[in-house]
Amino acid sequence: QQEGIRLTLLEINKKAARYYFALLKSPRGKVGYDYLTGRGLTDETILHFGLGFAGQGGGELYQYLKKEGYSDQILKETGLFKMDERGVYDKFWNRVMFPIMDVNNRVIGFGGRVMGDAKPKYLNSPETKIFDKSRNLFGLNYAKRGKRNNMILCEGYMDVIALHQAGFTNAVASLGTAFTEQQANLIRRYTDEVLLTYDSDGAGVKAAMRAIPMLRRAGITGKVIHMEPYKDPDEFIKNLGADEFEKRIEEAQNSFFFEIEVTKRNYSMSDPDQKTKFIHEIARKLLVFEDKIQRNNYLEAVAARYNIKTEDLQQLVVRYGNQMP
Ligand code: CTP
Ligand code: MN
Ligand code: MN
Ligand code: MN
Ligand code: MN
Repeated sequence: QQEGIRLTLLEINKKAARYYFALLKSPRGKVGYDYLTGRGLTDETILHFGLGFAGQGGGELYQYLKKEGYSDQILKETGLFKMDERGVYDKFWNRVMFPIMDVNNRVIGFGGRVMGDAKPKYLNSPETKIFDKSRNLFGLNYAKRGKRNNMILCEGYMDVIALHQAGFTNAVASLGTAFTEQQANLIRRYTDEVLLTYDSDGAGVKAAMRAIPMLRRAGITGKVIHMEPYKDPDEFIKNLGADEFEKRIEEAQNSFFFEIEVTKRNYSMSDPDQKTKFIHEIARKLLVFEDKIQRNNYLEAVAARYNIKTEDLQQLVVRYGNQMP
């Protein structure tokens, strides 16, 4: 019964994705097609990711699916429609559409982007019986086949698509939501190294600071790719190209050093009290390494970098270690 419902929802999503794709390629979808090609996407990329266009409003998708024989009850469960006393409306309209696929290439939901600056910029499918955002990663269905021994984790749909088009087929995105433990464990099935390329703005740095400890707990080594002076991988590649991105990968920063550097921004190193607090914070952070050798390697590296006596830092770490529950 429940399994039957899930299969039907997947079938409907597939039909919706095909509908949006056909519309994008039709005269009515030209504005969407021009938007995507204007952002540098090729026909091949549009087909590969099954990008589409949601029409001009009303209930055209609804009417199409009704003709295909689906009941209101099941259509309601797709999350693709708004239903109230006054009628049924397509949730997505006048947006370019990004089908979200699971690892088995099944369409489980959609993201839709406005073509200008209107808000909200992206609209996503709600949680349904087949769509749990926190347990999926956009692009993983392709990234898992990649030959590279790591994955690039970025923020958005366009980042993943631009990266794949540039040959970085190991890129995935956390669907804009906050990165989750389940997503970390999902990645761990395929690789033990993640290159983080969250946006270089405040929100992106904050999200990276949250993601790094989660990756670590899942047994994944994190490195941070820096996009400056650009905001995200999509913009970076558009401006500097794939070879420069490859260089940034080679220069990726150890995620522990990234955490320390970001933490350091909260302290003024010229003030002895603040510097003391900063060093205490480093000592506490070093406790995340349970492996003694690893902890010691980091301790020595950090001590050298910030001109702290190794023995002093060592003593502090031991002290905080003893305070742990
Ligand atoms: N996002 C979302 N809802 C929003 C804004 C963002 O779901 N209102 C998600 C989307 O998955 C988006 C990702 O968060 O791709 C990253 O957001 P942002 O950096 O703001 O957008 P970009 O991906 O850079 O979008 P674009 O390049 O299309 O402007
Ligand atoms: Mn962002
Ligand atoms: Mn940076
Ligand atoms: Mn972005
Ligand atoms: Mn962007």
